[in-house]
Amino acid sequence: MKATAIAHTNIALIKYWGKRDENLILPANSSLSITLDKFYTETSVEWMEDAKNDLFSLNGQIKQDAKVAQFLKILRAELDIPYFAKIDSVNHVPTAAGLASSASAFAALAVAGSAALGRQDDLANLSRLARRGSGSAARSLFGGLSIWEKGSRLDGLDSYAVPFNSPLTEKMAVVVAVVSDAEKAVSSRDGMKSTVLTSPFFHEWIQTAEEDLRNIKSAFLSGKFVEVGEILEHNAMKMHATTLGAKPPFTYFSPASLTVMDEVRKLRDEGIPAYFTMDAGPNVKIICLRENEKMVSSRMQKLVKDVYICHAGEGAKVIQVD
Ligand code: ADP
Ligand code: DP6
Repeated sequence: MKATAIAHTNIALIKYWGKRDENLILPANSSLSITLDKFYTETSVEWMEDAKNDLFSLNGQIKQDAKVAQFLKILRAELDIPYFAKIDSVNHVPTAAGLASSASAFAALAVAGSAALGRQDDLANLSRLARRGSGSAARSLFGGLSIWEKGSRLDGLDSYAVPFNSPLTEKMAVVVAVVSDAEKAVSSRDGMKSTVLTSPFFHEWIQTAEEDLRNIKSAFLSGKFVEVGEILEHNAMKMHATTLGAKPPFTYFSPASLTVMDEVRKLRDEGIPAYFTMDAGPNVKIICLRENEKMVSSRMQKLVKDVYICHAGEGAKVIQVD
């Protein structure tokens, strides 16, 4: 009853920011992401008939983690088993730094947990399962571009991710400018909750996010990179604007994030189509064409600690069943 799975992180180009159901992790809007080849989590799950509690280790260290503990309860209920689990996980991505470790983590955990029982769950089911650990994890089941449909059912059965194809997927690069790999002060979970409850901008965010999704889908289908870039950058800035309207106000921008954004604007002034997005942390992800990735990366290296050039990654997969 043991299996090991790998899942890659994903970066949203149309953000998920706000839940319609906290408990089931149902989003207020649909989102679209690209799965990255460089960052991933590898997790093994062993369901133990005789164990009296779960045991979770992350990067070789035993951890007590409330989100993991809660997710294991959900897994037991959904997979209909009474066993506790031994979990060994390694993040090939900084943890809780706004580089989406929770997305790869819960996708890998869902896939390994199911495979360890010899089940053959379909991808929609695994996506729904991963969603219960962390919303963005629903999208990490798929390689390339993926859309997490918000769904409308109260039970969340229609809220899962599906793959989305575009002639641009293999032409694009995501240059990750790591401003800081320290754990962030406000988690995405807390940040979006506070925004939903207190930000007067939340309603407008949701309205325009749906429109952004429709527009970016058609730009992706017709291979219009500049249009894609303009939409994704605007979408990210609108998401971050909602946090400034929250009470108390907060922001994920650091001075270094703003410096990176300025450099991206300069690149555009020089004729390089490059666009930025940010998540619940100060790191900036720059979306450009592969033909410009080295140029973008070398400009970023002058400003920040670490720079990674990523391309579209693969979907989650089982790598071993014992
Ligand atoms: P990030 O930006 O890295 O996604 P979050 O704060 O959203 O940051 O998520 C980090 C949380 O995800 C951790 O506190 C932990 O609960 C969970 N997590 C991260 N990596 C793993 C892992 N490999 N296995 C299980 N849970 C993990
Ligand atoms: C800004 O998926 O980490 O990265 O569902 O509460 O676990 P929970 O939140 P999470 O939020 C991701 C927020 C985001 C945007 C995105 O990935 O769509």
